[in-house]
Amino acid sequence: MAQLIGGICTSHVPAIGRAIAKGLQQDPYWKPFFDAFAPVHRWLAEARPDVLVVFYNDHGLNFFLDKMPTFALGAAPQYRNADEGWGLPTLPAFEGHPALSWHLIEQLMAEDFDLTTCQEMVVDHAFTLPMALLWPDQQWPVKVVPICINTVQFPLPSARRCWALGEAVGRAIACWPGDARVAVLGTGGLSHQLDGQRAGFINKAFDLQFMDSLVNDPEWATRFSIPELVEKAGTQGVELLMWLATRAALGGPVRCLHRNYHIPISNTASGLMLMVPA
Ligand code: DHB
Ligand code: FE
Repeated sequence: MAQLIGGICTSHVPAIGRAIAKGLQQDPYWKPFFDAFAPVHRWLAEARPDVLVVFYNDHGLNFFLDKMPTFALGAAPQYRNADEGWGLPTLPAFEGHPALSWHLIEQLMAEDFDLTTCQEMVVDHAFTLPMALLWPDQQWPVKVVPICINTVQFPLPSARRCWALGEAVGRAIACWPGDARVAVLGTGGLSHQLDGQRAGFINKAFDLQFMDSLVNDPEWATRFSIPELVEKAGTQGVELLMWLATRAALGGPVRCLHRNYHIPISNTASGLMLMVPA
């Protein structure tokens, strides 16, 4: 049976891609951010996942406002990166795991989740940059299954619904008959707002409470409506839904092996967490 070995949550910000392209990892602005990934690199080298299931949000590369699925699951043999207009070099393509993708699709459909299935899918900075943070040599040693949660076009799925999705993904991984070592990655957040009168909004107190809650009271954030989460974390901070789904996939109690919180990266309060089943 497949084994779910751990979950990683991290922010995704296009500026990270620019810093990587320019080799700015030792620059004073960037050093504390990049250095924080060292414990995660050590864990990955030891834990050696074969497959990574990635909760992220597409920002207009694969889906646009005219057609916006709430939940979309990749079932492609390969996922390419493409130009989003940020001026970033595109990163090497990612190998998919169609058999595991279809297993997840079957299981989630059987649990009444209505999914969009994507046998072709390009992946944006929310997918590629966290991968480049985990594997700086950009030689991806894992196959990937991308799961997109809409946090761009309102109405968004509720925190409770994203928690339930994550739980169902965790159950589906656990009953996959292959003996793969599977890890889960959630990208986005923490608090940030890129638009409107509150552009630049960051809420450190809320972010830290949210990170604590993932260990101590993991369903805490599901009590908030989407407008409440936007109020607390910012319009784009609502990307924390990806962290919630990741935590839900891990199921019962977890141990946090590493965490970091760093303000700001661009307009974003950047967070990092590595959790393993307790
Ligand atoms: C920024 C943050 C994001 O999550 C994103 O998708 C794009 C930009 C930022 O802070 O610049
Ligand atoms: Fe984003």
